[in-house]
Amino acid sequence: MTGDEIRESFLRFFEEKGHKIVPGSSLIPHGDPTLLLTSAGMVPFKPYFLGEAVPPSPRLASCQKCFRATDIESVGDTTHLTFFEMLGNFSFGDYFKEEAIGWAWEFVTQRLGLPREQLWITIFLDDDEAFHIWRRVGVPEERILRFGEEDNFWGPAGDSGPCGPCSEIHYDFGQEFGCGRPSCAPGCDCGRFSEIWNLVFMQYNQDRDGNRTPLPKCHIDTGMGLERTAAVMQGKTSVYEIALFSPLLDCISEMAGIKYGFDDAVDSTARIIAEHSRGIAFLIADGVLPGNEGRGYVLRRLLRRAALFGRRLGLDKPFLAEIAKATIKKMGHVYPELIERRSFILKVIELEEARFGETLSTGLELLDDIMAERETDRAGEISGEDAFKLYDTYGFPVELTLEIAQKQGFTVDMGGFEREMEKQRER
Ligand code: ALA
Repeated sequence: MTGDEIRESFLRFFEEKGHKIVPGSSLIPHGDPTLLLTSAGMVPFKPYFLGEAVPPSPRLASCQKCFRATDIESVGDTTHLTFFEMLGNFSFGDYFKEEAIGWAWEFVTQRLGLPREQLWITIFLDDDEAFHIWRRVGVPEERILRFGEEDNFWGPAGDSGPCGPCSEIHYDFGQEFGCGRPSCAPGCDCGRFSEIWNLVFMQYNQDRDGNRTPLPKCHIDTGMGLERTAAVMQGKTSVYEIALFSPLLDCISEMAGIKYGFDDAVDSTARIIAEHSRGIAFLIADGVLPGNEGRGYVLRRLLRRAALFGRRLGLDKPFLAEIAKATIKKMGHVYPELIERRSFILKVIELEEARFGETLSTGLELLDDIMAERETDRAGEISGEDAFKLYDTYGFPVELTLEIAQKQGFTVDMGGFEREMEKQRER
């Protein structure tokens, strides 16, 4: 099944179960100061969970564009994405665990046709109710694992709001893909297991101090990762091997003259560029512009990371707009905003990338000067103050200072850099 088919199949399935299908919202949350970006399918529905607004139907289903800035540095492995699509079904004071679990199981085993013996379930520590429902639908006891708050309690999205215990469905690619440790189980980061669906039993409203009060009604919020599910359906262990990503990786490979799939370091770099470029196009399409704070900073950071990683592959001329074009071509039929704002997206990328190019040139000159001085001065160390000044005043990324310094036999006082950074944070 392609990503398009999974998306369609999910929404039709829940439509058959009495859900109203609603279009996904913008990546910029509407009227929600607690969140920078839409990070889950439930975000547009927070007022419904809290009883502050009435939903158009007690049962909704959607495919929501999501962005998780917290995952920026995890990108490059085979599962983490900053931008992804989340499929979800929602109940507002209507059905609860019984139906949510029953339908999730029906969908994965019957519609997607995933082999039952390759599915594992996790539940919250004392959630015996969920345990018994999973047993009733046919999951053997030994494949239902209990985890604590860290893994099986979801939310709130942002610093406050609805949350509750959750239950996840994990797909097992098989022992041969695992680390072989006796403790290897869902949650292990070795790549054997992929969490494809999270069912949240919304029961509490959490305030900013972490206090939880029961919600007047119990709700359901689920999130199935489209890219991860597509990988499973397409027999791939990596989300980057699915058809949603291949045109982007092809575009990068062609520009950089590399072949994907032969060198781990090169592959990981190409994945970061592809992933970030996709996120960049979607953020700009929803009206985010590069800046020094908030969402603008997230976009700027993403773009600079993509540009820097591009340099590692020898891409030292502007190249990001080309990958944005590939993104628009691949995703535009589902997200028409990409097509409508195509020239704007490309323009913003070109300007920001050119600007970053200037930043890099200025920074490189300054760094050369610093190193020239240091050569005659104290041997071979760039001070924390200098590295910080390059970063803070000139926007020159510290990882680049480090990389260039090391190539020339210098060290960088990173402890000093961190201290300067801390002082700046305080200020
Ligand atoms: N809101 C839940 C999640 O994001 C479904 O995992």
